[in-house]
Amino acid sequence: MRWEVTMPFTSILSLLNTQAADSIASVSRVTAVDACSSISVIHAVLKKESQGLLHTFNMTETCYSKEEEETIDRVLNFTTERGIDNATIIQRFDKISEEYDEVQITIRWTGPQWMGESVACQYPSNRGNIRILDVAAGTGLVSVELRKHGFVHIDGLEPAERMLEQAKKKNLYERYICDMLGDNTLDIADDTYTAVTMSGLSREIMKKLPVKALEELARVTKPGGHVMMNSYDYNFESEILRANLANLESRGIWKLESKQARQHISNGVGGLLHIYTVL
Ligand SMILES: C[S@@+](CC[C@H](N)C(=O)[O-])C[C@H]1O[C@@H](n2cnc3c(N)ncnc32)[C@H](O)[C@@H]1O
Repeated sequence: MRWEVTMPFTSILSLLNTQAADSIASVSRVTAVDACSSISVIHAVLKKESQGLLHTFNMTETCYSKEEEETIDRVLNFTTERGIDNATIIQRFDKISEEYDEVQITIRWTGPQWMGESVACQYPSNRGNIRILDVAAGTGLVSVELRKHGFVHIDGLEPAERMLEQAKKKNLYERYICDMLGDNTLDIADDTYTAVTMSGLSREIMKKLPVKALEELARVTKPGGHVMMNSYDYNFESEILRANLANLESRGIWKLESKQARQHISNGVGGLLHIYTVL
């Protein structure tokens, strides 16, 4: 696995240390610097060669105020530290639950909005009757977006109780399922939902999602329904995740219907959305 980074700046390296590349082979030169109003943005292009394909990732560095940087450190970097196990991730999300929404605004996290638009695109009519499960629901930001498009029957699955409490305060889900996605069987009947969404599942979990977890997403979805997941583009680069997603496809459990990319899913980081049709 070889990474080429065409831009040397220290902050992007610290971002990469916490969230992105597993290894960086070289850092060469600055390619572009823009200044837009009060924030300066530096664009980086990361290139990775794997299986004969060249994957390009776009990243930018945004200069935050001192207060914003402190909040990002306390909330975002705390919950995305590399190598932490699932129990620690859940405890950390519990700790920062009251600050979560604020930091998502600061980093301009648009995963939930993108998810809302994509589900609406898949289901242009009859939205009031469609049942949706939102996995890794957090404080309910995806439900907020789905509701804007007229979806009302939405359940949330989230292992961090206090994150779920925030969603409860806003009355965002019908059923609040405090559980995690993993090697376990979910307490949900087969074929319950027309669509399952998962936006921004913690990276350390996403990159190692076992086959059983994906099977559970498909099991609770009706045939013909959709499992839709979006995240930072580099999270989909995990070889384990890619192999496990393909495993379900090769067994005829689901079919990849579309793969979409956006240049910014939050300040400076590109995103990917996968939509699977359950067979
Ligand atoms: C970055 S937040 C995303 C929340 C929400 N979807 C959003 O877009 O704002 C990641 C969430 O994944 C949850 N999570 C961590 N491990 C999980 C697991 N194994 N299964 C489901 N959710 C998990 C965390 O507790 C946290 O609420």
